[in-house]
Amino acid sequence: MKKIVFYGLVVMLLFSLVQFNLSNAFTGKIDYKKIFENECQKCHERDGKGTKRGRKLGVPNFADAKWQASVTDEQLIKSITNGKKKMPAQKHRLSQEEIKALVRYVRILAPRKRR
Ligand code: HEC
Repeated sequence: MKKIVFYGLVVMLLFSLVQFNLSNAFTGKIDYKKIFENECQKCHERDGKGTKRGRKLGVPNFADAKWQASVTDEQLIKSITNGKKKMPAQKHRLSQEEIKALVRYVRILAPRKRR
């Protein structure tokens, strides 16, 4: 019986070591996809076109090339940081680095130009 408990503990220890290493591998790298999923997707949708709720509030379509061209990174950083009309401010929740990473993510949602 004691043996089982002991092996159980060893297995748990190994698991926590593996997890620790995995999370370590991601340090310095911001998981903007995860943040977007947790904080932004409910209004902006995974593809950036906006959920029903988001469109009611007036979200722009991130997948629209014209919209992408009409805004600067600085403006987007400011809008996410301080909020903009119905868009909630994120400065208390996210770091500047995370917000910048999210702006890069928003840019990725732009339609690819066909060549
Ligand atoms: C409660 C719904 C809601 C959530 C949650 C939300 N947004 Fe928004 N977002 C909006 C709305 C509404 C607008 C349009 C604001 C306007 O111009 O009237 C907007 C606009 C924006 C814009 C364009 C700003 C500009 O200058 O035109 C960006 C970029 C953006 N959101 C990113 C994000 C990111 C990143 C997150 C998550 C951290 C997020 N949003 C979470 C509702 C939301």
